[in-house]
Amino acid sequence: MLRSKIGGIGYYVPEKVVTNDDLTKVMDTSDEWIKERTGIEERRYGIKHKETTSTMGARAAEIAIERAGIQKEEVDFIIFATLSPDYYFPGSGVLLQRELGITKTEIGALDIRNQCSGFIYGLSIADQFVRTGMYKNVLLVGAEMHSMGLDFTTRGRNVTVIFGDGAGAVVVQPTEEENQGILTTKLHSDGTYAEKLAFINPGSHGGYHSKHTGEEVDYGYSDAEYGDIFLNQHMLDNAQIFPNMEGQFVFKLAVQKFPEVIMEALSEAGLEKKDIDMMVPHQANLRISAFVQRQLGLRDDQVWNNIQKYGNTTAASIPIALCEAVEAGAVKRGDLVCLAAFGSGFTWGSALIRW
Ligand code: UT7
Repeated sequence: MLRSKIGGIGYYVPEKVVTNDDLTKVMDTSDEWIKERTGIEERRYGIKHKETTSTMGARAAEIAIERAGIQKEEVDFIIFATLSPDYYFPGSGVLLQRELGITKTEIGALDIRNQCSGFIYGLSIADQFVRTGMYKNVLLVGAEMHSMGLDFTTRGRNVTVIFGDGAGAVVVQPTEEENQGILTTKLHSDGTYAEKLAFINPGSHGGYHSKHTGEEVDYGYSDAEYGDIFLNQHMLDNAQIFPNMEGQFVFKLAVQKFPEVIMEALSEAGLEKKDIDMMVPHQANLRISAFVQRQLGLRDDQVWNNIQKYGNTTAASIPIALCEAVEAGAVKRGDLVCLAAFGSGFTWGSALIRW
């Protein structure tokens, strides 16, 4: 049976390290609070004017392409997952293509917007394209430059301290080997609580969704028939252009959905918790990872965590962590690797890979 496998993997994190103590200089927070609640010790920030989400993605992609043993011109499809794109549109996929210097190949580039579960959604899409024989070298990139869009005042501290910049990439290729490749991917969403973790301006909502949230917010719209709904001065003046999150609400659902979607994948693949060799969870919070670890009965060396160094890099967090685990020799040929994520949307998913 034709399956797909991760043929090459790479990651890139910017050089600039920002510690918790660095953040205390601009907002009322502390190293103790951040470490205790999230496990984060430091994160990386890209260099303004020099790095972007797509350029960081390209650096990770170059490594993944080389390790996949192909030339970049052989990539036949691009999937780019991010919530912090270079532009509102066009998407970062075409910018990555340009940065890699492969515009002449005129391959398709797809942008996906599934936030923390973006990489898993992308992997599932790549898997389908490869399994059907449509493409042979799908380049999947998850990258974020959060530092350009966060509120660096005390008002935004509950969100800002968590996020970091970085990129991860894989090349998904066909394999006919009996015991190798992506065994299954499971994808879910529930839009009921879309605004609980969201970045809503600029956007076309015009306050419409208050009927779902029950919360009327003054966005400062004028009475003009056209314009000023997408973005206006009031939104800028009132800090309505930053991400917001109801942390505890998200936390409670995350610890429920992570184990649920992992068990669903295991059941479909005819496997059990004890069969997992390495778990690479989306790096949202060390406490969430620890909870999932306990639920699955895994040892410390069976769960790869790096949120301590990079914070939450959203769509990039799984490929960065997976790449580190592979480079460290913690994932070996034949191992059962489990990926899982939960985040804004809410969207969540899992993947089982026989490495
Ligand atoms: O990747 C996407 C998915 N996201 C997640 O999975 C995130 C899930 N949620 C979480 O990880 C946690 O809820 C957080 C780490 C975001 C927050 O931890 P928490 O233990 O839930 O804290 P909290 O939001 O309940 O806030 C507790 C207190 C509040 O003060 P009061 O009201 O008790 O006086 C906050 O104002 O901590 C305060 N606080 C801070 N204090 C210092 C919030 N942020 C900070 C901060 N520094 N950065």
